[in-house]
Amino acid sequence: MHRLLHIIATPRGKNSSTLHISREFLKVFTQNHHDYEVDELDLYLEELPELTLKRIDGKYFLLSGKDLSQDLQDAWEAIIKQIERFVNKDLYLITTPMWNFSIPYRLKHYIDIIVQPRYLFRYTERGVEGLLKDKKMVIITSRGGDYSGEAKTYDFQESYLRAVFNFVGIKDIFFINAQPMDAKGEKVRKERLEEAKTIACKLAKEI
Ligand SMILES: Cc1cc2nc3c(=O)[nH]c(=O)nc-3n(C[C@H](O)[C@H](O)[C@H](O)COP(=O)(O)O)c2cc1C
Repeated sequence: MHRLLHIIATPRGKNSSTLHISREFLKVFTQNHHDYEVDELDLYLEELPELTLKRIDGKYFLLSGKDLSQDLQDAWEAIIKQIERFVNKDLYLITTPMWNFSIPYRLKHYIDIIVQPRYLFRYTERGVEGLLKDKKMVIITSRGGDYSGEAKTYDFQESYLRAVFNFVGIKDIFFINAQPMDAKGEKVRKERLEEAKTIACKLAKEI
């Protein structure tokens, strides 16, 4: 059995434009991939551990090549739980709106928790090595404006997500960006949503 982790980074539920596209992707994906089970992680419902000073100390222990003491292991239990849930997947689907040119803070919080030395990356003499090999990722975003033309330099969402997941070894990353969802009115929103859904359905069959 293969596993897909669906990470939801919008709080808008049924009213979410991004989730609308992702639901369509998943419908077609599961019809075409019977050997996959889907684990859904809603970042607005999940209790994510805070990065307290003690937990951050743990990160620096690992960075310096030391093992976590029992005390730090206890503090890291909730972090390890999230890391294991992430690492044991073959494919990732991230559903995220653009917030202030980048990602919603809950998604950033999640990334800060799971991207840890020894688990997702390590430093070697040849530089950084991402430890997640042979995994794929689909990132579905929606934006109020349109960043496909002149405004591309303001799109820190795609460049950031690509950079951080490349850093941990995930090289096969497919983006579907639905835009503009707000700036050009309802008619354009619906057209762009349909276009994004068509691309998502095609990718869901081919991936
Ligand atoms: C807090 C917040 C910040 C936003 N920042 C941006 C932004 O920087 N650029 C943009 O084009 N749209 C921005 N938007 C609009 C959303 O990206 C857009 O409405 C998106 O389609 C919402 O997706 P959702 O319905 O899946 O949550 C923002 C929305 C919110 C709530």
